[in-house]
Amino acid sequence: MTVKDNVQLQPYNSFHTKALAKLFCEPQSVEELSEIVRAFPDEKKLVLGSGFNSFFTKEFDGLVIKPAIRGMHLLWETDQFVEIEAGAAEDWDQFVAYCVEQGYAGIENLSLIPSSVGASPVQNIGAYGTEAKDVITKVKTVSLQTGDYHEFSNAECQFGYRDSIFKQTGDYVITSVVFRLEKSFQYKEKYIDLSRELEGIPTPTLTQVREAIIRIRNRKLPDHRILPNAGSFFKNPFLTEEEKDQLQQKLPDVPIYNAGEGQFKTSAAFLIDKAGYKGKRHGMVGTYTHHSLIIVNYGTENGQEIVDFMHKVQQEVQKQFDILLEPEVRIY
Ligand code: EPU
Repeated sequence: MTVKDNVQLQPYNSFHTKALAKLFCEPQSVEELSEIVRAFPDEKKLVLGSGFNSFFTKEFDGLVIKPAIRGMHLLWETDQFVEIEAGAAEDWDQFVAYCVEQGYAGIENLSLIPSSVGASPVQNIGAYGTEAKDVITKVKTVSLQTGDYHEFSNAECQFGYRDSIFKQTGDYVITSVVFRLEKSFQYKEKYIDLSRELEGIPTPTLTQVREAIIRIRNRKLPDHRILPNAGSFFKNPFLTEEEKDQLQQKLPDVPIYNAGEGQFKTSAAFLIDKAGYKGKRHGMVGTYTHHSLIIVNYGTENGQEIVDFMHKVQQEVQKQFDILLEPEVRIY
């Protein structure tokens, strides 16, 4: 069991902001993780996955746990399905690439999302009409309260839009995730941008879909290795019918999507754009020139500067359109 003191978290968060963790560990197995949790019952605890969706504004006075549990293996298969278990520390896109190579369908639309396998259920990562919840059958965890092992079924994960029981409670460390994927693939239209990219290909293969998504993402989204960012910074807001009508009066061309049961969803990127914040920069922080939903770090090591910029975007959108954008990124 190795627990280090005063570890710099800068390499472990997507914005590369500076902050020290009083205690830091990278457990390699479920047993080591349980042992560490039980050895520090009174410390505050924070779980870091890939760190692609988190950043720090101050020191963390407790224990940071970054699971290092790896491995991918096939649990069972039928003619139609496979179930694969992957360790929390596996890189998400490498896992997608492996599944696509094997001809396993279900997560190809989630290509190139910067994440780890363990973070995929926390955020219920999603893109191009697919969410992690569509393919997850089981999430294996260790409780931060007791160090006990606990498995969650899909229903028990309480998945929502960029949400889950793991995000809500912060009480569990995910050690591995089980995915059910299909052995045959037929492309179904779910997202207009993707269909456009696949135009001229009558029956796209899994590999062609993955490649199309990689092309779209590379065009729109900044490379986090060059311009540190955390993907979409805000969630797309949900609206009631009344809120939707009011917004359409102010912005007749605003994209509106049906979200079921009298609920609607709109595009945060569009609102930020219309508020005049696309490609806008204050000091070392700004929105990306090609996509207003992405906040990029041009060189600060101070997370508070990112929070200050976030507040400016929120205030301007609220002032103009009466909608409060909620961050999807985790700020510590
Ligand atoms: N738009 C603008 N200005 C911009 C960019 C986009 O007005 O600068 C408008 C356009 O009308 C566009 C619409 O926003 O049609 C939607 O844009 P996009 O397809 O890029 O989707 P998004 O709503 O911005 C969401 C996810 C992304 C995911 C894409 C593709 C959230 C918070 N974000 O973004 O997820 O890749 O859809 O499915 O739901 C992430 O979570 O980190 C992430 C990148």
